[in-house]
Amino acid sequence: MTIEGNEFTKEPSVIERLAYKDTWAGGTDSYLDMLYPRLQLMKRLLSEDGSIYVHSDWHANSYVRLLMDEIFGKNNMVNEIIWHYRRWSNVASTFQKMHDNILLYRKSDKAKFNMLYQDYSHPEWIEDTVRGFVDGKLVRLRDDAGDYIKRDKENIGVPMHDVWTDINFIGPTAQERIGYATQKPKALIERIIKTSSDEGDLIADFFLGSGTTLTASEELGRHWIGCELGKVGIQVTRARLVEMAAKPFLIENIGNYQREMIYLTGGRIWEMQHLILKLYGATPRDKISGLGIRKTDNIDELVYVGYPDRPVTARKAEELALQTQNLDGRGYKRLVILGWDYEYNYSQALESRLNALKDKIKIKIESRDIPPDIYDYLKKAKSDEDIEALSDKVVFYERPYLKLGKPQIKEKPDGKEKISISLDRYVLMDIPVSHLSKKGESDYTTLMKLAKDNFAVLIDYWAVDWDYDGCTFKSQWQAFRGNGRKAKTVPITATETLEKKKDRIIAVRVVDIFGNDAGATLKL
Ligand SMILES: C[S@@+](CC[C@H](N)C(=O)[O-])C[C@H]1O[C@@H](n2cnc3c(N)ncnc32)[C@H](O)[C@@H]1O
Repeated sequence: MTIEGNEFTKEPSVIERLAYKDTWAGGTDSYLDMLYPRLQLMKRLLSEDGSIYVHSDWHANSYVRLLMDEIFGKNNMVNEIIWHYRRWSNVASTFQKMHDNILLYRKSDKAKFNMLYQDYSHPEWIEDTVRGFVDGKLVRLRDDAGDYIKRDKENIGVPMHDVWTDINFIGPTAQERIGYATQKPKALIERIIKTSSDEGDLIADFFLGSGTTLTASEELGRHWIGCELGKVGIQVTRARLVEMAAKPFLIENIGNYQREMIYLTGGRIWEMQHLILKLYGATPRDKISGLGIRKTDNIDELVYVGYPDRPVTARKAEELALQTQNLDGRGYKRLVILGWDYEYNYSQALESRLNALKDKIKIKIESRDIPPDIYDYLKKAKSDEDIEALSDKVVFYERPYLKLGKPQIKEKPDGKEKISISLDRYVLMDIPVSHLSKKGESDYTTLMKLAKDNFAVLIDYWAVDWDYDGCTFKSQWQAFRGNGRKAKTVPITATETLEKKKDRIIAVRVVDIFGNDAGATLKL
């Protein structure tokens, strides 16, 4: 990404690294394992007149076809589309791989199929005049004035073939390129949508990537729904939709697959907590409290690991902080919370709780995130040596700190009020840029400095719900950096003229360039 003219590379999490590059570390086997139940579910969700397109390259294509045959039935195989593209040739010892495969299956024989037409390969051979037999010879017919008789119907081309050669790969300088590694050309997706759906139909893409399917569906007047596991994909897609002024849409976080796996595989929570404590470098204090102790050079920390299915609340943090001060007779100087998730207004709520306690809490509290890919690590960590080896790799980043400024309210003569709110501070304690290389080290310093001068450079997107109902965040105002070359630093003030209201709650949601989420609310 480019920030104020400087190029940075974010360290992707393990899961993003796998998904973003579209490679599968465990090989074809594990890829198919992932795909099989998902395809089955997609079949159940598909309407009777619906179709499914599965795009893959040569590695997986033949295996995916077998899965599709089994799930959808051989009879429902409609086409195998070869998408042939041109790209720079490499030095090669085999034929250059210049195509991908798109398998088209239908749910049933009721499937829609709007035939598309392509240009004639030799348009000069195509006649627009009428032929007929004169004196036993096939000739072009003439009217009374002696002119050739034209056909009534315009030539519309030939029904489209299953080898598509007219859509190019998104090249490095393409206008539509937004910098997502596996972005597909809009023309390719549009062709698919137009063939198998009509306006008003619902399109789903369960592997969104940069969201080309959603932007194309929106443009073509289809409804849409999308899924993506990587934060980058969600951010890029959201920005593309906002930029094209798409109709209102909702982003739902439907739970963390990694966390669910901990429950599904029957792991015991305290065992998981112990592993996480050890990965953080702490020693479990007892069997089940989720507490551990880490000795650093100058200070002993009390470390708490949260539950996978519950956000850490400010109240819990306060309770732990009070406990920390006296625990084990001597107390600890620092409390570190390792949470899977935090309640919506966590940092502000904790701040006001601590303020209310005046000076009763003297210790430092650090709230850190358990990385979402921890499950992959937990699977690998069988012995204490494994954990030791992994503990360098697993980073528990500290939660960003978000503070809103005091709102400005101007009463208007028409009974309305003009409200402005600003982001007062957004602080990232850690920046996920690798320190390992020289470039990483200098990136880190530059970014820290840029962020210190103007924290807005860190913000990818922020949104305001002017009338928060305490449950669903409805974005009514938003600012975003944008993708690729169009990226620009966001403004930090939002203004809106609203009907006057008693007891208004304004909610703000910030997503930074690294995918961290932070929220805060204000009561007016
Ligand atoms: C090839 S890309 C899609 C590219 C997309 N057509 C575009 O134009 O940008 C595949 C995407 O699927 C996502 N993905 C992989 N496994 C997934 C899963 N199990 N659930 C949801 N998304 C997944 C990856 O993060 C990746 O962004």
